[in-house]
Amino acid sequence: MAARKKSLYDLHQMKEKGQKAVWITSYDYPTAQFAQAAGVDMILVGDSLGMCVYGYRGTVPVTMDQCIVHCEAVRRGAPEVFVMGDMPFLSYQTSCEDAVRNAGRFLKEADVDAIKLEGGKRVTPQVKAIVDAGIVVCGHIGLTPQSSGQLGGHKAQGRTLESATLLVEDALALHEAGIHLLLLEAIPPEVGQFITGLLPIPVYGIGAGMHTDGQLLIVSDLLGQFQAFTPKFVRKYANLAEVATNAMTAYAQDVRSGTFPAEEHCYRMVEGEFPKFQEMARRYQRPAPWA
Ligand code: KIV
Repeated sequence: MAARKKSLYDLHQMKEKGQKAVWITSYDYPTAQFAQAAGVDMILVGDSLGMCVYGYRGTVPVTMDQCIVHCEAVRRGAPEVFVMGDMPFLSYQTSCEDAVRNAGRFLKEADVDAIKLEGGKRVTPQVKAIVDAGIVVCGHIGLTPQSSGQLGGHKAQGRTLESATLLVEDALALHEAGIHLLLLEAIPPEVGQFITGLLPIPVYGIGAGMHTDGQLLIVSDLLGQFQAFTPKFVRKYANLAEVATNAMTAYAQDVRSGTFPAEEHCYRMVEGEFPKFQEMARRYQRPAPWA
């Protein structure tokens, strides 16, 4: 039997007890089922779906409608897991009103438990507005892919005193604005450890070292499906790209050689029907293939 779904309270308790939370992304129904069966604590339906599912070069083109459709599928696959929707580019930067409306869509249409948005001080008005609407919010600072152009690419952050200080200020500003959870991406472990200790809320990391309250990995990296590039912080636990390519190659060989389908894959006619079918076939005055 699947474990009971974690609540925000449970996640905060885990931090207090020093229990690490296990968090992965997921974008579809079957993968969400695997994640639930594996006992993960949280699933993020990340806007990384733009790259992992749609083959875009980045996350910027991803739309709200795409995010909602994938959240719905994940919710169906993992009804007993804390699921978080990821707010795509321009779904919250434009105004507090847009931010609340779009955050609310995740809850109303896809039954998620929380939303995540990227950015520090500059998104605190949106964070306050979404929190005021009663929605659980996760902040996301460090390497923030939606604004990677301003960061000079997909680069680790917080590696200088100046950059690390900005991260600490962002974390404090987000906490002050009311975030319930925080994600740190691609920053040094020392900075991850400091922010994790500084904030009373759960602070998770993806590429933020070993001291955060839990870890997130992108499922397509973990399973070895995403092939365009592999960030330094990834550990691959499988090579599904190889498994899938080998399986399809074997299928192609079997079809071409005539060894698939075999007898066990065929639906035979009901007993006594084939002679009648042969009789009927004579009307077409063509040599039947079995004649
Ligand atoms: O979209 C996503 O999967 C994310 C992670 C990269 C943190 O935001």
